[in-house]
Amino acid sequence: MAGIDLATLERLRMAAMEAAGHAYAPYSKFYVGAALLFDDGVVVTGCNVENASYGLTSCAERNALFRAISERGAGPRIRAIAVANRNGAASAPCGACRQVLSEFVTADAVVNFPGERGPETRSFAELFPATFRLETQP
Ligand code: THU
Repeated sequence: MAGIDLATLERLRMAAMEAAGHAYAPYSKFYVGAALLFDDGVVVTGCNVENASYGLTSCAERNALFRAISERGAGPRIRAIAVANRNGAASAPCGACRQVLSEFVTADAVVNFPGERGPETRSFAELFPATFRLETQP
């Protein structure tokens, strides 16, 4: 799918699972990790970070993206995303993360996440077809 072979996706999934080991999730006890594969081959990971306010919690996917941009700028595009959790639960990326990620994915980007019957891979465009965009000013 999208030129990403299964071994690469599996490595990305393992990186997401490892990142989930750093999750700060004392409130939900739902430990999530995300791994982003960029078009220059670099992988950047993140985990969820919760807060006692609940609403200030930040998801693994967005933390991975913000880390990547903070470290390397907003140029590289995401070719593949893996999301994993240490709870053995089916869990696709939330809508907020899909919207945020949508500005940085390639047209053929794929997402690997724990589905009802184990890890599944879908195209990003299928998961998030109607993206909100603003034309950027020159
Ligand atoms: N969470 C993520 O990190 N990513 C998702 O895709 C779904 C939810 C986190 C947020 C919160 O810390 C916990 O999982 C429970 O919602």
